[in-house]
Amino acid sequence: MKYDFDEPVRRRGTNCVKWDVCAEGVLPLWVADMDFRAAPAIVEALRRRAEEGVYGYALPPAAWHESLAKWLAARHGWNILPEWAVDSTGVLPALGAVLRACCEPGDKVVLQAPAYNGFFPVIASQGCEISWSPLRRVPARSGMKGDFTYEMDFEDLERKVADPRAKVFLISNPHNPAGRAWTAEELRKAGEICRRNGVLVASDEIHADLQMPGSKHVPFALAGDWKPGEFVTFWSATKAFNLAGLHAAVALCPDHGLRERVRAAQEVGGSGHLNAFGFVASATAWDCCADWLDELRAYLFGNYEAMIAFLHERMPAVKCTTLEATYLAWLDVSAFGLPSGELARRLEDEARVKFSPGSIYAEPKGGAFMRVNLASPRAMLMEALERVASWLP
Ligand SMILES: Cc1ncc(COP(=O)(O)O)c(C=O)c1O
Repeated sequence: MKYDFDEPVRRRGTNCVKWDVCAEGVLPLWVADMDFRAAPAIVEALRRRAEEGVYGYALPPAAWHESLAKWLAARHGWNILPEWAVDSTGVLPALGAVLRACCEPGDKVVLQAPAYNGFFPVIASQGCEISWSPLRRVPARSGMKGDFTYEMDFEDLERKVADPRAKVFLISNPHNPAGRAWTAEELRKAGEICRRNGVLVASDEIHADLQMPGSKHVPFALAGDWKPGEFVTFWSATKAFNLAGLHAAVALCPDHGLRERVRAAQEVGGSGHLNAFGFVASATAWDCCADWLDELRAYLFGNYEAMIAFLHERMPAVKCTTLEATYLAWLDVSAFGLPSGELARRLEDEARVKFSPGSIYAEPKGGAFMRVNLASPRAMLMEALERVASWLP
């Protein structure tokens, strides 16, 4: 390994959301960023930018969209035109802009449950309602690690998308928190349902580069012969390269008309002007950091395997999803006999480990869940799991 992901990084006391909202001594395995230093090439590019000493409003160069286009072509086989990209300070602001551009108050956004909770206030802020289409829990496929996984319920999706008030199907591809890397077939079926009903697909691909061994990211754009106005894709380097605090993302809109409406909506929301460091870091990631990402993914999967082995040995009643993508494991902790919110509170207060309770992700009924962020040095992850096992009666 060229990069050392075992090296602990000091984050407490650095104005860090993940660590500094927790009491001293608590190990945080919750919000989705990583306890690793960024790739050395990114640190160096930011150091050079910082040394310029002038931090006024920035105009991202065309090169940053070209870097993204090259990355998507090389890594995912997706040939975009750089001009499809509408800049945004994040995927969530970009989602807000797409909803402003495409929806009236009272319209519905179809979303599969469980779902990433950051979507909820953005949808509500545009006066839209969430129309839930629960994913179906199924046993893990043979040969895959983990106990269970999720599938789309196409019949339910069709019913929800056919509602005349449904305007957008927002899909997390790959899925946070279920860990699914959707197949081309699944995406094609879902997309055809949307096409039949005139519903725009908004594909959030922020976790796309975090594929685990044996999985492959399928951009929604490549799953069917879509017309340009049938979808928009959100993309960002911030999850895979640990740059979330630098706030840089794009909405990829192949349709000119939709693109201009999204761009105008970004102006209204004030989220179209990028952080001067954000695009420097993202372009460096795409241009120079593929090897870092590949080592990171192997390390993250090692963490997942270590957690699975620990659970089997020490907490066999806890069931875990197959992790196809993301660094977020989704555990069924019903065996603890507590609602997930209460369990998370007790684990934080008593075991001194902070997880995200499943209740905040609109989990489908039938269990109590916990989302575990695996992106920490392995020793810290194992210490956190050890604390939970020792806390159990
Ligand atoms: C699926 C998903 N989409 C969007 C976001 C937030 O993206 P941003 O910080 O670019 O708004 C997250 C953050 O965890 C996420 O998991």
